[in-house]
Amino acid sequence: MTMRRKTAETLRSYRWYGVQDLRAFGHRSRTKQMGFARQDWAGKPVIGVINTWSEANPCHVHLRQRAEEVKRGIWQAGGFPLEMPAMSLGEPMMKPTTMMYRNLLAMETEELLRANPIDGAVLLGGCDKNIPGLLMGAISMNLPAIVVPAGPMLRGNWRGKTLGSGSDVWKYWAEMKAGGISEADWDEMEDGIARSFGTCMVMGTAATMMSVTEALGFTLPGASSIPAADSGHARMATESGRRIVDMVWEDLKPSDILSPAAFDNAIRALMGLGGSTNGIVHLLAWAGRAGVPLDLERFDRLARDTPLIANIRPAGQHLMEDFFYAGGMRAFLAKLAPLLTLSAPTVSGKTLGDDIAGAETFLPEIILDADKALKADGSLAVLKGNLAPDGAVIKPAAADPRLHRHVGPALVFDDYNDMAARIDDPALDVTADTVLVLKQAGPLGGPGMPEWGMLPIPQKLLKQGVRDMVRISDGRMSGTSYGACVLHVTPESHVGGPLALVRTGDLIALDVEKRSLDMQVSDAELARRRAAWKARPVIYERGYGWLFARHVQQADKGCDFDFLRRDAGAPVPEPEI
Ligand code: FES
Ligand code: MG
Repeated sequence: MTMRRKTAETLRSYRWYGVQDLRAFGHRSRTKQMGFARQDWAGKPVIGVINTWSEANPCHVHLRQRAEEVKRGIWQAGGFPLEMPAMSLGEPMMKPTTMMYRNLLAMETEELLRANPIDGAVLLGGCDKNIPGLLMGAISMNLPAIVVPAGPMLRGNWRGKTLGSGSDVWKYWAEMKAGGISEADWDEMEDGIARSFGTCMVMGTAATMMSVTEALGFTLPGASSIPAADSGHARMATESGRRIVDMVWEDLKPSDILSPAAFDNAIRALMGLGGSTNGIVHLLAWAGRAGVPLDLERFDRLARDTPLIANIRPAGQHLMEDFFYAGGMRAFLAKLAPLLTLSAPTVSGKTLGDDIAGAETFLPEIILDADKALKADGSLAVLKGNLAPDGAVIKPAAADPRLHRHVGPALVFDDYNDMAARIDDPALDVTADTVLVLKQAGPLGGPGMPEWGMLPIPQKLLKQGVRDMVRISDGRMSGTSYGACVLHVTPESHVGGPLALVRTGDLIALDVEKRSLDMQVSDAELARRRAAWKARPVIYERGYGWLFARHVQQADKGCDFDFLRRDAGAPVPEPEI
């Protein structure tokens, strides 16, 4: 039995629909214009179904149908659904990078909820930056909200081999350049690597963020691992629709869910899954919106004793479809339970412990026991040193262990175009010990902190059999990527961080065990270089890019806009009706 804290008269939407004044006449008559009658909405929670469906986003094409299934649940539970489209961040298509637009989706979500007669929200999305953006906005608005994750697509298939999104693209591209497969083979893979709607089905950023969102408490139990094409996905959508109506009556808001313990649960899940480095940036942004203190050190601290127990590519062998058959996120969290705060409340209205009670693992080679972990600890690590005073990130679980401790000479690329022009030059002065360094890939330099961090291995080394090298940048890396890539170097080169001062030939020392990243250049020499350093101009003089360039924060703060953090100023007033 739902504990009702709200009444029909205290619903936010009552101010639009319930009162007897001139404006309410307009709201009601215009709702009737859509064919609804007064009994469709009167006395009911109005639920905004925020839908990132778009034909420019292949990962979300099923969300038009899923929104209908969500609405069915809302009607059943006595709510009134209003579907509202929001910008869709389609990772395969958008340039320069979806990360540039995450904050715009967050602003759109917050303002859609604020400006309209909404009591609670269902957030539909999944492709990398969509759930981060949707939830950032919902956290700031702090109305009851539940996430319907888009779900992973089916396994890829090519000549009887299983293909994983992204990861196998990088792998076979390198194979083709090395002469291992033909161009005809490569073309044939196009047909088999994306076989259904849904998100990338490796533990890339999408699967990471869907899973982490569940661990944080924002989906129904088990929702995040259901394949998009499984009929259970539609049933989950309907169940989420039913649930949000009760959440409104219970007045269960994001601020009731987002505690330091909930963030720790999410970070534990990120580490235990071998999740994307992007998860760090998005969790920092959510925490900044929620006013929950969180810094990079916390990630490193929790990584140190969280075992990597999800055997999913790119860190492991299998795919999200297998993870679902193995018991999915509930089984995974149950295995991690000794490290979690089980009393944390979730959108279910119960606790995380209740949500995972009785969960079983059916395929123990996919969801592993802690003593069989792929890696006992440290699936992600935070590095500091004179090259990254405010931190950098590496995913040791997806890097050749031989490179976890490495000293080598830098080969510096001043920006992406410089790298693209020279990387495959047969005359390039490079060996397997060289450290590839890319500048101008950060939040401002990219701009938008593009996923350029997995710099390609130079072709001449590929032909020698080299498959991993130390690479360093202020950019990000796709969650489907792998390799000894040091990412998110902060402060970024564009604003004059020490990365800007590195020159070809400087010795760079990486030590994952010690969590250090240094260039072996004297302070006096660095001071000389700094005095001679000149900033590049920001490329945007108008438009959203202009706003972005003025307000985006560095990666250690989650790349949110400074004015959108909880501590930016007094709360935004509710609209006057
Ligand atoms: Fe959409 Fe990977 S491209 S989830
Ligand atoms: Mg991605």
